[in-house]
Amino acid sequence: MIGNIDNLLNFSNDIFQKKELKSVFIQITSIAQILWDRGWAERNAGNFSINVTGFFNEKELDRLSAYPFFPLSKRYPTLARTLFLVSGTGTRMRDMAKHPAENVCFVYISESGSAYHIIDDNPEGDPLRPTSELSTHLAIQQQLLQKKSTEKVVLHAHVTELIALSQLARFTSEKAINSLLWGMHPETLLFLPDGVGFIPFILPGSDTIALATLKSFETHKLVLWEKHGCMALGASLSEAFDHLDLVAKSARIYFLCKSAGMDPEGLNNMQLKEIHDSLPR
Ligand code: 13P
Ligand code: ZN
Repeated sequence: MIGNIDNLLNFSNDIFQKKELKSVFIQITSIAQILWDRGWAERNAGNFSINVTGFFNEKELDRLSAYPFFPLSKRYPTLARTLFLVSGTGTRMRDMAKHPAENVCFVYISESGSAYHIIDDNPEGDPLRPTSELSTHLAIQQQLLQKKSTEKVVLHAHVTELIALSQLARFTSEKAINSLLWGMHPETLLFLPDGVGFIPFILPGSDTIALATLKSFETHKLVLWEKHGCMALGASLSEAFDHLDLVAKSARIYFLCKSAGMDPEGLNNMQLKEIHDSLPR
């Protein structure tokens, strides 16, 4: 057990410097920059959680329980003794791209699954608090672990093109929005054959949005929150971003045709069936 502030400081430094995490930090840097460049991360918009438990041994995990801890509003038994890299609430993606370690914290879930410890790059000051969407991230991360999924990342961004689509009443159903998105570009059906989940507007950060999102992720890899943004899953941050990128492209094609004053034709049913039949089973 580590008892004093010097030990805490040294250990935090060790975890942030862990060589196995280098590639994770490189991806955070590059994806945060892209989110900012796309305009999908205005102000503090967007957040992520990455399950990094596999990079740490039991002894290292034991030491994390010496850091400041905070109760959770719900218990996550499957997440006991798991460790996540989580974006800090209020942090900006444009800053994350330059100084990732200053804008993320490790969130270590206690033995009971009902509290979390925060390890940040500055254990002397006030701890950086994890994203306000933590309850949704944890609920999804728990579901991924229960399903023994290879997906370790949950990424949230304010994808402008998809928010715009969700402002149009006729696309505010799963059936309508997926039929539009699949029709705009073959890759969307190829890589997201289960389509996107659609959640009517719910207050961000609430347990209600966490529950609804969880249910939707049982059958999708990307969930659209009406008039707010999206959440995507991936084995890596890069893969989670790919899902957002793919669907945003379909939405962009739709708006491009509309702004040229024309209605897009969309792939017809025969073409969609052909693509669908080519999918690996
Ligand atoms: P946080 O800064 O708390 O992560 O909030 C950003 C956001 O996009 C909320 O939906
Ligand atoms: Zn948001």
